[in-house]
Amino acid sequence: MEGQRWNPEEYARNARFVSDLGEPVLDLLAPVAGERVLDLGCGDGVLTRKIREAGCAVVAVDSSLEQVAAARAQGLDARVENAESLPFDGEFEAVFSNAVLHWVKDHDAMLEGVSRALVPSGRFVAELGGAGCVQEIRSALHASLNGRGVDAVALDPWFFPTPSEYEVLLSRHGFTVDSLELFPRPTPLPGDVSGWLETFAKPFLGGVPEHERRNVIDEVRESLRPKLYATGQGWVADYVRLRFRVRRA
Ligand code: BEZ
Repeated sequence: MEGQRWNPEEYARNARFVSDLGEPVLDLLAPVAGERVLDLGCGDGVLTRKIREAGCAVVAVDSSLEQVAAARAQGLDARVENAESLPFDGEFEAVFSNAVLHWVKDHDAMLEGVSRALVPSGRFVAELGGAGCVQEIRSALHASLNGRGVDAVALDPWFFPTPSEYEVLLSRHGFTVDSLELFPRPTPLPGDVSGWLETFAKPFLGGVPEHERRNVIDEVRESLRPKLYATGQGWVADYVRLRFRVRRA
């Protein structure tokens, strides 16, 4: 989200699987016709459209101007907003978020905004990367950057919490947990892991001069090949998901 620029065409090419795999999160949301729903981090709006097709009135927000433009082009009510400063007050029966929250830095500010946006007893249904997500990819990126004298920890944008870590945050903001689970979800990539790195690892690549970025990508790809590539199967990323459904007081 913050610190990451999204190019809708590149996203559609390398990351369409993100919304394709969002179906179980929609099932957990179980949208009911007539409900008002906030889609937090809507990207290009593919899942927002599905919530609207269920008969809901959906407001979609994203911090990326480009993604919001792509969502608006589909006729959606999409707005540029930062997850850490949501402007809504008691306007939604549900808040939904898929594959975005691991980019958020200040979860206290975000959860406060989500709680404020909901009506009493409103639900928050979300999935994000959980503890151990893309651990192999992350380690390879760190090794490649550290080998060039770049502090990878300072550039690392991701927060992949454990269930207990996240439960503490949720309860601090008055949420009651209906369900919360952490599970591995090995994720086949649409092509070479290089495409994934170009799309998702921009904050790391931004730490090296432009002429060096291709070398970093090639080095990371080759160090990951024995772990994440199999003939006949292609590249499979080591995703771990944290999926929850919680309720506001
Ligand atoms: C995701 O979109 O789910 C994701 C992005 C970056 C790292 C790991 C997961």
